[in-house]
Amino acid sequence: MLAELTHRCPLHCPYCSNPVELVTRERELGTEEWCSVLDQARDLGVLQVHLSGGEPLARPDLPELVTRASGLGCYVSLVTSGLGLTEARLADLVDRGLAHVQLSVQGADAARANLLAGAKAHDHKLTAAALVKRFELPLSVNVVLHRANHDQLEGMIALAERMGADRLELANTQFYGWALRNRDALLPTREQLAAAEPVVRAAMERLKGTMQVVYVLSDYYEQYPKPCMSGWGAQQLTVAPDGTVLPCPAATAITTLPLENVRDRPLAEIWYDSESFNAYRGEDWMREPCRTCERRTVDFGGCRCQAFQLTGDAAATDPVCRRSPDRGLVDVLLEAPRGSGEFVMRGVR
Ligand code: SF4
Ligand code: FES
Repeated sequence: MLAELTHRCPLHCPYCSNPVELVTRERELGTEEWCSVLDQARDLGVLQVHLSGGEPLARPDLPELVTRASGLGCYVSLVTSGLGLTEARLADLVDRGLAHVQLSVQGADAARANLLAGAKAHDHKLTAAALVKRFELPLSVNVVLHRANHDQLEGMIALAERMGADRLELANTQFYGWALRNRDALLPTREQLAAAEPVVRAAMERLKGTMQVVYVLSDYYEQYPKPCMSGWGAQQLTVAPDGTVLPCPAATAITTLPLENVRDRPLAEIWYDSESFNAYRGEDWMREPCRTCERRTVDFGGCRCQAFQLTGDAAATDPVCRRSPDRGLVDVLLEAPRGSGEFVMRGVR
């Protein structure tokens, strides 16, 4: 379960995949409500809890929530920008059962990273990484790749090594939420992706056994879509800061989807019985070409949010697929002349 504790965040990344309309502090679930969500999630079978946001450290009750989740026997991850992670706070979270930290990195050096984060964040991240290692917690570094930082790919791999990361996720931007607004500026070029491939492959080879390197493709350039969420309502759920339960983190993008809230209905009922979780679960919803395609058990027809965003129909084949009748929509985007590369930073709230 991805528990998005808050949308509040000290960074202003242009590639943010959180919705354009953020949940305000006043609408966030309270401590007791989050504890109940964690209890219900464990009853449902959830074993991994990612405490995320926004910036989860913005919640003063984070320690209590870590205690609750780890006490239930869950593997608890903190997904953070690193801002606000002091030695005392981390020591306390570790005492309470925090198992893993995922830290975001925006660039290879402070100048670029701070520009892309819209904040003086880079040095805090170096400090945060050192703290995580000092407490001997597994460290994942997450880098969102796009047109404005692909040229620093080697530098960012080297930075993750210096940080002592156990896992490095190099993820080309996926276009949801705020990032969709900036797609023209963020979409990498074909040349950038071609240059990245051998660099990533070499790093995977060289760092085998030391640092796991995961590369998330820029799916618009692919022939087949990603197996988004490993299938809708199959393995994961997201709880938004206001208690809305989402089959995927970006699902609010599907404006036709009737979403439900833990304030109104038990989590188990939402998981098993809700219209939202059943809408694209399994294969019954599929139409041609997915319905009879041999890859439907591999990619589950791709991404529902992307299908909706590009075609207005969440049950359509993901237009990234070369077999989709809508593939032209993606090709037009790839072939269109690129703009200035200027993006709009995520707003301040
Ligand atoms: Fe996947 Fe559907 Fe394309 Fe087949 S037709 S590859 S199932 S998206
Ligand atoms: Fe929602 Fe892919 S991002 S299904």
